[in-house]
Amino acid sequence: MSLNSAPIQKGTRVTVLTGAGVSAESGLFTFRDNGGLWEQYRFEEVATPDAFGRDPRLVWRFYKFRWENLGKASPNPAHYALVKLEASLGDTFTLITQNVDGLHQEAGSRNVIEMHGTLRRCYCVRCGQQFRTAKVNLHREVPRCTGCGGSLRPDIVWFGEMPFGLEAVNETLEHTRIFIVVGTSGTVYPAAQFLPLARSLGARTIGINLEPPQNVSWFDEFYRGRAGDILPELLKQWI
Ligand code: OAD
Repeated sequence: MSLNSAPIQKGTRVTVLTGAGVSAESGLFTFRDNGGLWEQYRFEEVATPDAFGRDPRLVWRFYKFRWENLGKASPNPAHYALVKLEASLGDTFTLITQNVDGLHQEAGSRNVIEMHGTLRRCYCVRCGQQFRTAKVNLHREVPRCTGCGGSLRPDIVWFGEMPFGLEAVNETLEHTRIFIVVGTSGTVYPAAQFLPLARSLGARTIGINLEPPQNVSWFDEFYRGRAGDILPELLKQWI
């Protein structure tokens, strides 16, 4: 594969936004592709606070299914390429992810903002205590807090809730010189507005996706293909 993208100088502020497409090659479902999670489930029934209030067992079935899939998954070359980019840039690199699988950190990424939370943590809706999902008894239909007996919920940002880390995201976007977007349909706000924002603040914008997403016109450079093929190739040009 021959790609052409200008080198990234050390000291350049680089921000990467990732979505479900970056974990597709790890065997995890995306949401809106054919056969994606939102074809199998209605998000109103499994990914809102109201849904949890109405039917916490159904919500937990959805997240246990995703947790089981995650148990079979490991990082792929796209995750590792981003680790190498961070290793080369150090403090001027930030990774913002909409993914809740924790595969970026498992690969070795350090400066990660998990704006939609993580499958790897739960918390008690009554007392707020946090638990590592790996330590929770998931045999119960609705897992319980070992402290107060309240219901646990996954530490996921559901529709209608405020994403995590938005202050840090804004600070990062203000200063970023290069904004790279990988494997997201760009349809869910507020993440969908980061690309136009970064571009309007003067960043060079680079997109990588299997298909051109609806916001493709905001990219200065767009590379079509699998993230696990494209990112390692671009990395050779960048650093
Ligand atoms: P989507 O399912 O909306 O989009 C996945 C994107 O990845 C699509 O644009 C695909 O073309 C692309 N893609 C698939 N396989 C790829 C590959 N191997 N390499 C590169 N690109 C690939 O997922 P997201 O954009 O992440 O939120 O969805 C955003 C949010 O919507 C999620 O965080 C989730 C969902 O509802 C919540 O659950 C709150």
